[in-house]
Amino acid sequence: MKIGIIGTGIVGRTLAKGFLSLGHDVMLGTRNIAKDEVKKFLSENDRALAGSFADAAKFGNLIVITVAGRIAKDAIEMTDKNDFKGKTVIDTTNPISQEPAVNGVMKFFTAANDSLGEHIQSWLPEAHIVKCFNCVGSAFMTNGKQFGDSLPTMFICGNNAEAKKQVTDFLTSFHWETLDCGMIEASRAIEPLCMLWCIPGFLQNQWAHAFKLLRK
Ligand SMILES: NC(=O)c1ccc[n+]([C@@H]2O[C@H](COP(=O)([O-])OP(=O)(O)OC[C@H]3O[C@@H](n4cnc5c(N)ncnc54)[C@H](OP(=O)(O)O)[C@@H]3O)[C@@H](O)[C@H]2O)c1
Repeated sequence: MKIGIIGTGIVGRTLAKGFLSLGHDVMLGTRNIAKDEVKKFLSENDRALAGSFADAAKFGNLIVITVAGRIAKDAIEMTDKNDFKGKTVIDTTNPISQEPAVNGVMKFFTAANDSLGEHIQSWLPEAHIVKCFNCVGSAFMTNGKQFGDSLPTMFICGNNAEAKKQVTDFLTSFHWETLDCGMIEASRAIEPLCMLWCIPGFLQNQWAHAFKLLRK
């Protein structure tokens, strides 16, 4: 597959590396292809490409949106929305506000009965948004085996079954089990898992964990 990644932060680069390791072609999207992280990434991954956010959206038959939640709309505005039509779009974002955390609990700019996943779906109505990867640190995203034989659970949601199947197949390759939480409104529950995931980090400086759904 050709995968266009809108965002060159640690998540974009980690997922890009993971997709390359599975044999896919990847383009990192950035406002500045000359920036150090991008140059280093290209020098270490000879099959990787870089371009603008618009180039990455055009390039991918699957697209990943992985920029800070508060600027997700701006990043999408820098692309041609027609390039998202009918494509699976993995949304890793969280609606983290710029206000400081309180006793380790981050603040969101969305309300409880709302989510950034739904906003992104409404900005790109012809794309198939799948919320994924938002509730674990980047170090674990492409290798769930780091937690041993019992695979961690990735919670996903989205309105298109085929897109969720595509994302589930990637998750299986990355050694995660997947829980499909239904339609995009489930982002209201999945996004706050990021808040919960970060609490041991802020309070005890422990960042090496993931969620697991236990079933009887
Ligand atoms: N870090 C984690 O472990 C983690 C885990 C789970 C989920 N997430 C979520 O994944 C997303 C990405 O996180 P990240 O830490 O990898 O990256 P990040 O630092 O949040 O975002 C990096 C990207 O944002 C772009 N950007 C910054 N300001 C911009 C602006 N004003 N207009 C347009 N683009 C702008 C940068 O563009 P340039 O390339 O042009 O500089 C860069 O590509 C976030 O929503 C985060 O909540 C992160």
